[in-house]
Amino acid sequence: MTTTVRTRVAIVGAGPAGLLLAQLLRTAGIESVVIDSRSRDEIEQTIRAGILEEGTVQALLAAGVDTHAHQVGMRHDGIELRFDGVGHRIDFAELVDRGVWLYPQHLVLQDLLSTLVPAGHDVRFGLTAQRVEDVDGERPRVIAVDAEGAETEIAAEIVVGADGSHSIVRKAMSGSRAGLYREYPFAWFGILCEAPPSAPELIYSNSPNGFALISQRSDTVQRMYFQCDPDVDPDVYTQEQLWEILQTRVPGTTLKEGPIFQRDVLQFRSFVARDLRRGRVALVGDAAHTVPPTGAKGMNLAIADVLLLGGALRAFLLENDARPLDGYEQAALHRIWKAQNFSWWMTSMLHQMPEASDFDRMRQLGELRSVTDSRAGRTYLAEAYTGWPMESFG
Ligand code: PHB
Repeated sequence: MTTTVRTRVAIVGAGPAGLLLAQLLRTAGIESVVIDSRSRDEIEQTIRAGILEEGTVQALLAAGVDTHAHQVGMRHDGIELRFDGVGHRIDFAELVDRGVWLYPQHLVLQDLLSTLVPAGHDVRFGLTAQRVEDVDGERPRVIAVDAEGAETEIAAEIVVGADGSHSIVRKAMSGSRAGLYREYPFAWFGILCEAPPSAPELIYSNSPNGFALISQRSDTVQRMYFQCDPDVDPDVYTQEQLWEILQTRVPGTTLKEGPIFQRDVLQFRSFVARDLRRGRVALVGDAAHTVPPTGAKGMNLAIADVLLLGGALRAFLLENDARPLDGYEQAALHRIWKAQNFSWWMTSMLHQMPEASDFDRMRQLGELRSVTDSRAGRTYLAEAYTGWPMESFG
């Protein structure tokens, strides 16, 4: 037995991209259905990235999302680049008059869901998309199953894949012609610990032993990462060993230690899908691209896609104007490739390549000095990190 649901836009994936798109459509009077294979609890508890560009916070507020980013989040007006044992501040406020907000992704998801669900929006959890049918037709359909195997068919005018890096919708659109990518010979080992912040701002540290990032979550919980082998088993290290690794990678700062209550390994990949849109099917967020986390661009880029696609869908569905939808891919790729470059650049400048020669290491320090010694260099980094202006159609 298959249940059929009809709607204007079928959104696969209840992450930041899918939910913000639903909210933008809802406020424009366009009906949509969002499905996700996970439960609401799982979505709201998963620990992910933490940095929001100011433009991202503004986009959430302008969309009517009941977000507490400005109240609960912490504004950061700079970061520190550390190399050769010395810290160099990149002063965003002074250089580009912008800042970022440290506000973890799971709180953004809680904000979005507590805006959409009480408003009666159709968000269905525990429903796994299996395929998209009639991709090239006027009425593409998402076929999904629940945990009991019951099938739901969502027939829509538009299907949007906001279903992450293993996107089913992307597969339906492009088959094995997935896209352009590069791999990295390292990953990040992430920890959450109970401790006060070790420094007022985030520290991105290039050390001879490898990269470390000292980030934060709150006054009492901290998030830290260090460069590791992609195949490492997160449980091989004792807490003492983890602190020792982290300490040696941030020479010049004594980290405030505390109980480590979560550990995970984040794989690195740069990827851009070959097609962001085919007929009435489009991709946003991680389904369309992934970036390594070093530039803190992932969620921000997803929001930027959604602002473009939201405007394009309004024009298409309310005014019968297909031009913005036809322009979506090109407009989105403009920002995506800039963010790809920035994320790759930050990664390559801060990590140790396993096969690096002494020449490579000294050149890397020269590159870091070229950035920190020069106002133009610092401004370039500050502009990209805090985010280029968000664009939208209409
Ligand atoms: C984080 O706090 O999780 C975080 C911050 C900055 C990054 C990546 C991750 O570049």
